[in-house]
Amino acid sequence: MSLQLESSKRRTFAIISHPDAGKTTVTEKLLLYGGAIQMAGAVKSRKTDRGATSDWMKMEQERGISVASSVMQFPYKNVMINLLDTPGHEDFSEDTYRVLTAVDSALMVIDVAKGVEDRTIKLMEVCRLRTTPILTFINKLDREGKEPIDLLDEVEDVLKIACAPMTWPIGMGKRFKGIYHLYNDTVRLFAAADGQRATEGELIEGLDNPRLDELLGSQAEELREEVDLVRGASHEFDLELFLAGELTPVFFGSAVNNFGLQELLDGFEMYAPAPKGRETESRFVDANEEKLTGFVFKIQANMDPAHRDRVAFMRIVSGKYESGMKLKHVRIGKDVKIAKAITFLANKREQAEVAYPGDIIGLHNHGTIKIGDTFTQGEELKFTGIPNFAPELFRRAQLKDPMKMKALQKGLTQLSEEGATQLFRPVNNNDLILGAVGILQFEVVAQRLKDEYNVTCMFEPVNVNTARWVIGPKAEIEKFTAKVRENVAYDAADQLVYIAPTRVNLNLTEERWPELQFVATREH
Ligand code: G4P
Repeated sequence: MSLQLESSKRRTFAIISHPDAGKTTVTEKLLLYGGAIQMAGAVKSRKTDRGATSDWMKMEQERGISVASSVMQFPYKNVMINLLDTPGHEDFSEDTYRVLTAVDSALMVIDVAKGVEDRTIKLMEVCRLRTTPILTFINKLDREGKEPIDLLDEVEDVLKIACAPMTWPIGMGKRFKGIYHLYNDTVRLFAAADGQRATEGELIEGLDNPRLDELLGSQAEELREEVDLVRGASHEFDLELFLAGELTPVFFGSAVNNFGLQELLDGFEMYAPAPKGRETESRFVDANEEKLTGFVFKIQANMDPAHRDRVAFMRIVSGKYESGMKLKHVRIGKDVKIAKAITFLANKREQAEVAYPGDIIGLHNHGTIKIGDTFTQGEELKFTGIPNFAPELFRRAQLKDPMKMKALQKGLTQLSEEGATQLFRPVNNNDLILGAVGILQFEVVAQRLKDEYNVTCMFEPVNVNTARWVIGPKAEIEKFTAKVRENVAYDAADQLVYIAPTRVNLNLTEERWPELQFVATREH
C-alpha cells in the first residue's frame, strides 16, 4: 500500500482531562471498540498513576504493562488509531505536554457534573499552542450534572472554543434515556453496560418517529423542543474551524456504560486529521515525504530491570519505517541501524516490521537518545516545539554514602532524561539540584535510585524558588554568569539556567539585565 494511503489512514491522538473525569474508562472502552479487548484490564491498572506513591511504584514494577499501554494502536473501521496515553497525576504534567507534541488531535473528556476543571484548562492551553483540533466527550450522563446547554456555554467561555454539539442527551441521571444524533437524525436508547461487551441500545430513525413517544412518553416531546432550541442556539459543526482548533464537536455519553462512544469514534474516524507534518529549524517536513523523519518525545528508562535498557518513543513524521533500516541520529551525527524497534499494536511489544507517519515506534538504547532528538535518512534536520518547562519545586540530593557520588550523578542524569524531573548543577558548588513540577516526583526518584542504581539518597530543601533559562548575546551571558555566580547552574543539556531564590529576586535580575531573556520553557 502506498505511503500516502497508509499515512492518510492514521489518527494519532491523546486524551486530555482532569483526573477522575473518566480518561481511563474512555480509553478502556475505545480499545474495546477497537477489538483490543485484552487491553482493558491493563489500562485499569494504570489508574494507580494518580494514586499514592506506593501505587505508582507498583505500577512501575509492572512496567511491561505501563509501557505497552503508553501507546496503544488499534484499527477502527477504515482507520488505524494511535492513542497516546498521558499520565493522569498532575505531577507528571511535563510528560503530558510533550506527549501532546506528538499527536494530531486531542479528545477532551469532561465530567458533566464538574464541568471545566483546572487541569483541562492547562492542557487546553498547550493544545492551543499548536492549534491541535479537539473533540469533546461529556461523560457521566448517567449521573445528575449541569444542564448540557449551560455546560457548552461554560466550555465556550472558559476555554474560548466554539462548541458544536454532535449528539444531544435525553435527560440525565435517573432520567437518562439516550442520545440524539443531530446529524444522523437517530436516537440511540440508553442501555446500561453489560460487562465488557460493547453494548448498543436500540437505534430509532428520525426524531418524529412515533416509536419515540411510545418509549419515552413525555420526554419525547421535551426532546423535540430541546433539539429545536439547541439547533438554533449552538454552532453547527464546521470541519475547517475544527481543524483550526477553533471549534470542538461535542459528544455526550457515559463511558462506564459504553454509551455514546460509538458516535464519538465515528466522528473521530470521519473528522480527526490524518498525520500532519512538523516544523524543523530549517524547513517544514510534510507527512507525505518519502524519506523517513521522526522525533523523540518521551524516554522511559530501565523498562526491563534485568537489562537496564531504555526505550525512546519516536513519532514518525514522514516516510516509512522498515525493520533493519539505517537512520541518522542527527544530534550526534551518526548513522544507526534500527533493527529492533517496537510497535504497540494490540498491547504486544512486538518488533515493528513497518511503521508509517503518525505511528510511534520504540527505540532501545543505552542512554544515547534524548528527548527532542531527530532521526532522518541523512538530512540535517532538527524538529522544534518539544517543550521543557521550568520546574516549580527544587530539592538538593543528599547522599548517604559519599562513595556513591558517581552512581548518584548517573542515576539523576538518566532519570531526568525521561523528562519528569530536571537536574541542575550550580556553577559554584558541587550540589546536585533536582527540579520537578510535582512533589511526588522526589519520592519516585529516591525510590528508583535505590531500586535501579543502588543509591540511597534524600532530597532536602534548597533555597531555590524558580528557574529560568537564560538566552542572550554571548558576551552578555559571560558577564552575567561571572556576576551572579551563586545563582546560575547548568541543566542536563549544559544550558545556562538562572536559579532564583525568590520571585522578587528574579524580577530584579530581569530588570537589571535587559539584554537577556529569562524564559520559563525551553525547547529541546
Ligand atoms: P480518570 O482516568 O480520568 O482519572 O478517570 P477514571 O476513568 O478512572 O474514572 C473516574 C471514576 O469515574 C471511576 O470511578 C469511574 O468508574 C467513574 N466513571 C467513569 N465513567 C463514568 C460514567 O460514565 N458514569 C459514572 N457514573 N461513573 C463513571 P471510581 O469510583 O473512582 O472507580 P471504580 O471503582 O468505579 O473503578
